[in-house]
Amino acid sequence: MKTKRITNIAEAVSLLKSEEVVAFPTETVYGLGADATSDSAISKIFAAKGRPNDNPLIVHIGCMEQLDTVVSNISNISKILMDTFWPGPLTIILPKTDGFSDVATAGLDGVGVRMPSHPTALKLLRAVKLPIVAPSANTSGKPSPTSAKHVLEDLEGKIAGIVDGGATGVGLESTVIDCTIEPPIILRPGGITKEQIEEVIGEVRVDTALTTTKDQPRAPGMKYSHYAPNAPMIIVKGSSNFFQRNINEAQLNGQRVGVLTTEDNKDMYVADVILTCGKKDDMSSVAHNLYSVLREFNHYEVDIIFSESFSDFGLGQAVMNRLMKASNHRVIEE
Ligand code: TXA
Ligand code: MG
Repeated sequence: MKTKRITNIAEAVSLLKSEEVVAFPTETVYGLGADATSDSAISKIFAAKGRPNDNPLIVHIGCMEQLDTVVSNISNISKILMDTFWPGPLTIILPKTDGFSDVATAGLDGVGVRMPSHPTALKLLRAVKLPIVAPSANTSGKPSPTSAKHVLEDLEGKIAGIVDGGATGVGLESTVIDCTIEPPIILRPGGITKEQIEEVIGEVRVDTALTTTKDQPRAPGMKYSHYAPNAPMIIVKGSSNFFQRNINEAQLNGQRVGVLTTEDNKDMYVADVILTCGKKDDMSSVAHNLYSVLREFNHYEVDIIFSESFSDFGLGQAVMNRLMKASNHRVIEE
């Protein structure tokens, strides 16, 4: 299959309506869209990504009227969340309607819905007038794509088309919050922070599986290893001297060492490859660049990557969640 570079929305609409899959930009990461009312279109997403079929997909809508075809009950709390954060990077899980696809929800009774804020995504959703399921447009397990180039690295020849909207904004996926229970639980930290959510609905819980490796995550996708560069990655917590000692030891063992750091700290280290992902006091810059830097390490010959760690507050919670997954929870502390 040849992957079409789509330059007008009408072409993307027509492919989606003929049950093909199309990648498009959202404000978080690129999504791989398909008609949520067609199981055969939905299956093409799982095939192209190599995604396990027990991992449910998020439904994207362009207007509130579409919600009733997807969810059967909208709680007051979820209404407040929608009013406050939509369009935007918040996915809300609600009970699905009987008619909504079990293939999309992997057999679960809840369905995740969001209205993205990216102008191209909104334009596409409003033109196609169908709910569109869209996971991140990467091969399962790889870092999510924040540019059309990343999508094509993984899916060229496997999908019908791609709409190139340049680099995405947030750079990390949406926050997933389960509103089928009260109080709601955050299943995946993302573009909207826990603090922002608590400001409008009061205290929320966070899935305990996000902070310990003992529990089974409630979002099926969170149990899979993810985002990892080809070389093993280790998060280093401690002083710059401690960081450098780890680099030196690895090099003495004959390893080529990569370092993932920030603009502020890049001159503190001597290593084989040093990549930066923004500024330490600007977590949105770190989130924006993180996946692209994780992918970039694969273009260098490194045997091991040492990564700095970040504060767990605000957007830092999502950044650290992705870094912990990318490193398979390997952390060394001074
Ligand atoms: O920002 C985003 O959310 C992007 C863009 C394209 O919208 N999409 C995205 O989708 O990240 P995906 O499929 O890569 O990740 C969805 C996550 C998975 O961990 C999945 O298990 C979880 O959300 N999820 C989806 N529906 C769910 C449901 N009904 N119940 C529990 N978890 C769900
Ligand atoms: Mg994904």
